[in-house]
Amino acid sequence: MNSPPLIYTFSDIKAASLKAAGIVLEKSLVSVRDKGFFTLVLAGGNTPKLLYQLLASAPFVDKIPWPQTHVFWGDERMAPRDHPDNNATMAFLNLLQAVPVPTSNIFPIPTGEKKAGQAARLYEKTIIDFFELQSIPTNAIHFDLMLLGMGADGHTASLFPGSATLKEKRHLTAAVDGSVMASGLDRVTMTLPLINRSSTILFLVDGARKAHLADSVLGSTQTTKQLPVSLVHAAEEMIWCVSRPTENS
Ligand code: 6PG
Repeated sequence: MNSPPLIYTFSDIKAASLKAAGIVLEKSLVSVRDKGFFTLVLAGGNTPKLLYQLLASAPFVDKIPWPQTHVFWGDERMAPRDHPDNNATMAFLNLLQAVPVPTSNIFPIPTGEKKAGQAARLYEKTIIDFFELQSIPTNAIHFDLMLLGMGADGHTASLFPGSATLKEKRHLTAAVDGSVMASGLDRVTMTLPLINRSSTILFLVDGARKAHLADSVLGSTQTTKQLPVSLVHAAEEMIWCVSRPTENS
């Protein structure tokens, strides 16, 4: 992909989330029109909550072709489903329990496994098997729309600065050692080879704490070039929806 990213800036996260919801709707309609199904990868963390609530509300809830939509996650913390840090639980609470996506179309990362490595391998097989059913071979696997967030340190999904996982070239998923993280939770993440095959990647960033970093990343400054978020390049279209609250907002 050579075209520069589309960058949309808003004064608050609600407006940014509304724009993002419109993009999800647009991509879902085009994908289903062109090939009969839509593959959507959800982001974790807190920022997407409002977006998910918007997608579960009018007008989006009535317009998105939910029965033809297939839902995956870009990463997950190895926490049980009733744990507040579980990304799938957040998505179910804010979106999936309110929209008619068939359960068989929803592919959470298996956190019930004992080890993140086991969960990563299982999820990789889940992804490969799904696309095989669509007659798409492993080397052509790509999601239609991948939602991603950005941490204040420039991580995205569970790809953290300096992580060896950033060098993964073969596997579609990887385990992430959580011992250095506040939660102590190991994680599973999609890897760059898989993320970067996505047709469209949409970053939704609540700029309250991250606008400066987003500016540096989008300006490809020397200091941010090696950050995980800077290593993400969609196959066709990169979109950023950034809220940039002003001082008096
Ligand atoms: C995760 C996310 C992660 C998130 C960023 C931003 O599981 O933690 O996938 O990459 O998008 O950390 O998180 P917030 O939206 O909570 O700021």
